[in-house]
Amino acid sequence: MNALILAIDTSCDETSAAVSSGRRVLSNIISSQVNLHKKYGGVYPALAKRAHSQRIDPVVQEALKRARKAFENLSAIAVTDGPGLAIALEVGIAKAKQLARKYGLPLIAINHMEGHIYSTLARNRNGKPERELAFPALALLVSGGHTELVLMKNHGFYQVLGETLDDACGEALDKAARILKLGYPGGPIIEALAEPLCSVPSDCRAPDFPKYPLNPPLKEKKNLNFSYSGLKTQFLYLVEKLSEKELGQNLTHLAASFQEASFEQLVRKTSEAIEMYQPKILVCAGGVMANQYLRKLLRRVSREKQIPVYFPSAPRLIGDNAAMIGVAASYKYQRKEFVKNIEALDRKPRLSL
Ligand code: KG4
Ligand code: ZN
Repeated sequence: MNALILAIDTSCDETSAAVSSGRRVLSNIISSQVNLHKKYGGVYPALAKRAHSQRIDPVVQEALKRARKAFENLSAIAVTDGPGLAIALEVGIAKAKQLARKYGLPLIAINHMEGHIYSTLARNRNGKPERELAFPALALLVSGGHTELVLMKNHGFYQVLGETLDDACGEALDKAARILKLGYPGGPIIEALAEPLCSVPSDCRAPDFPKYPLNPPLKEKKNLNFSYSGLKTQFLYLVEKLSEKELGQNLTHLAASFQEASFEQLVRKTSEAIEMYQPKILVCAGGVMANQYLRKLLRRVSREKQIPVYFPSAPRLIGDNAAMIGVAASYKYQRKEFVKNIEALDRKPRLSL
């Protein structure tokens, strides 16, 4: 019998609870705060804390109801303990501790980025997809807070090969959209604007694509790190030089140019990491993997290097969600990796893999 786990994630601006049985997701409730934070152009911490506190109980209740389970059926509680926004993480951790105490259940602490990796292994109620990891696996994790390449030697064994030296890729896309005064979150806005230019096959592209080439960062560096702050500055200067009219007429080109430069380094470093470490599988996860153009580029890498690529197994598993935390927790449950002292579990905003 698979362990039935109630998982909670409040690491950023989504309040989420899920019930899973092994890798099978029975419910995955996500209450997004995007509309609350929109006018600030990013996550406003005090607002996030208040919204998490108001929503956590109804979200947990709904997750149990949709899964047709009660607390009495559960084997364990899982919760994200980092990385993320400290005062947001706190809300989920306090709730998880309270439930573990009240129902006498073991508590499992999960790294949010580990959760993103396991979003590719989550199964639906019918047990699909049936894919497995093969080791070593290479994970490319790209979200609003992280951009990293991780080598996974087994379940629970991670080696960070490279990470961003400054901004995360999703954060940079959010900033680019803000520079263009287009709203938040920026990733989907930039993708939609750039789509007519990016969706054409690369060999049919206009010779001047991208129209506004940005200098790729760390081109000469022999390491697997990323950088986005230089791109953002180049983009800001570029946009400031354009007249209102030019700006209005070239939004599509500007978005496509920024997206191209942002993804070029992801593709380049991922290819280099595959050559260096010869992984058996490429796992791509995090909010930015919602981007269809990026998926296309990574599928090409997978074909060229002849290794399979896995993306999150359903749309609701791409952005922040608790189901991925529950799936990661099912492996820790098998290894009996429980929190030893429930009272002492604390948030770890800068936790790394
Ligand atoms: O993983 P996630 O939901 O939250 C964090 O843990 O950060 O990632 C959020 C990030 C945001 O920066 C957002 O702009 C980006 O993912 N994103 C996208 C797309 N959808 C969301 N980036 C590019 N293309 C998209 N379609
Ligand atoms: Zn995330």
